[in-house]
Amino acid sequence: MQEAEQLRQVRRIFNQVVPVYDFLNRALSLREDVRWRRFVARAIRPGPTGRVLDVATGTGDLALAIAARPEKPLVAGLDLVPAMLEPARRKLARSRARVALLCGDGTSLPFPEASFDAVTIAFGIRNIPRRGRALGEMLRVLAPGGRVYVLEFTTPQKPWVRRLYRLYLRSWLPALGGLVSGDGSSYQYLADTILEFPAPPAFRAEMRAAGFRAARSHALTHGITWVHVAEKPQA
Ligand SMILES: C[S@@+](CC[C@H](N)C(=O)[O-])C[C@H]1O[C@@H](n2cnc3c(N)ncnc32)[C@H](O)[C@@H]1O
Repeated sequence: MQEAEQLRQVRRIFNQVVPVYDFLNRALSLREDVRWRRFVARAIRPGPTGRVLDVATGTGDLALAIAARPEKPLVAGLDLVPAMLEPARRKLARSRARVALLCGDGTSLPFPEASFDAVTIAFGIRNIPRRGRALGEMLRVLAPGGRVYVLEFTTPQKPWVRRLYRLYLRSWLPALGGLVSGDGSSYQYLADTILEFPAPPAFRAEMRAAGFRAARSHALTHGITWVHVAEKPQA
């Protein structure tokens, strides 16, 4: 698929799923998604800028979890699809969190170099066709020594988990997603992007190729989800 076509599809899908996005996330992951984002929020190391960027922030759950950290960093939450930010704005209005939401593309970040102590992206990187460029932008806006945290699904390695997971992705996810959202094809697309996403060692190689160092990965929930962490080298 051409990149422009892929971007159109991403915009169409997330515009369509927004009313049921949070509900389906909780239901389809049995609320594990809340634990995964909390894990990332807790892992972040505070740094000199006092700012964190959450790319592809969507409905804002990770941005809000980060803003709730004890040192209360200022969090910028950026997303390509304005409609996805609406639930985030509603959540923000009910909290005192220091979160600024903005519309933008992860492959062209509207921030100067070295603006953030940490950059996070949860379940967003696999929707960005130019992954290397997005990683390059994250590196650019990080302060030296700052870290990127990529939370993403991956096909599990253990054979029995992998078999169950494929069945879930190929049959149950599109069926359930279709039932609730009225658009099974969106969930089929999301399932395909999970199956196509590289295994952890290959993704770490992509992070290193983008200029990061000390890349490592941490498995969550039987390796269904991983947190990939890497550092921007000191100048
Ligand atoms: C599966 S949702 C994840 C949302 C949120 N991070 C979460 O944890 O629930 C993927 C998000 O990536 C956003 N997205 C896709 N391509 C993007 C891009 N090029 N730049 C910024 N956001 C993008 C979509 O609009 C969508 O909100």
